[in-house]
Amino acid sequence: MTEVEIYTAIGEEGFEKLIRAFYDQVPGDPILAPMYPADDLVGAEQRLRDFLIGRFGGPMRYVEQRGHPRLRMRHARFHVDLAASQRWMELMRRALDQAAFPAEVREVIEPYFEQTAVSMINRAPIE
Ligand code: HEM
Repeated sequence: MTEVEIYTAIGEEGFEKLIRAFYDQVPGDPILAPMYPADDLVGAEQRLRDFLIGRFGGPMRYVEQRGHPRLRMRHARFHVDLAASQRWMELMRRALDQAAFPAEVREVIEPYFEQTAVSMINRAPIE
C-alpha cells in the first residue's frame, strides 16, 4: 500500500481512533505532558489528526487552516531531545496497537512516524 492510499483504507475514523489513543496517554506522561497545552489538548489532537489525514491522501484541512506544515520549525520551541522523541514514538506505537489497523497499513505509517520522530530532535541529550 502507498502512503496516499492509507486514507481510503482506514478513513476519517481510523485517524480519529489512532490520534485519540495517542493523546489519551499524553496527560499521564512525565516527559510529554508538560510540553503540550493542557487547556487545548482537543485542539492539539485536531492539528495532528488533520495533518496526518492530509499527509496520507485525505482532505488538506491542515494546510488550509495552518499553512505549510514546516514541522521542524513548528517544533523548535519544544525541547525535543532523544528521550522525548523515543517517548513520543512509544506512545504512538501503543496507539497503533490499539487502533489495530491491517498489517499493510501499519507497515507504511509506523516507519513514517519513526523517521519523522527522529527528524524532530532539536536538542542534544545533555545540556
Ligand atoms: C518527536 C517527538 C515529538 C514531540 C515531543 C512533539 C511535541 C509536540 C507539541 C508539544 C506540539 C504542540 C501541540 C499543539 O498545540 O498542537 C506538537 C504539535 C504538532 N506536532 Fe509534534 N511532537 C513530536 C513529533 C511529531 C511527529 C513525529 C509528528 C508528525 C508525524 C508531529 C506532528 C505535529 C503537528 C502536525 C503538530 C501541530 C503543529 C501546529 O500546527 O502548530 N509531531 N508536537
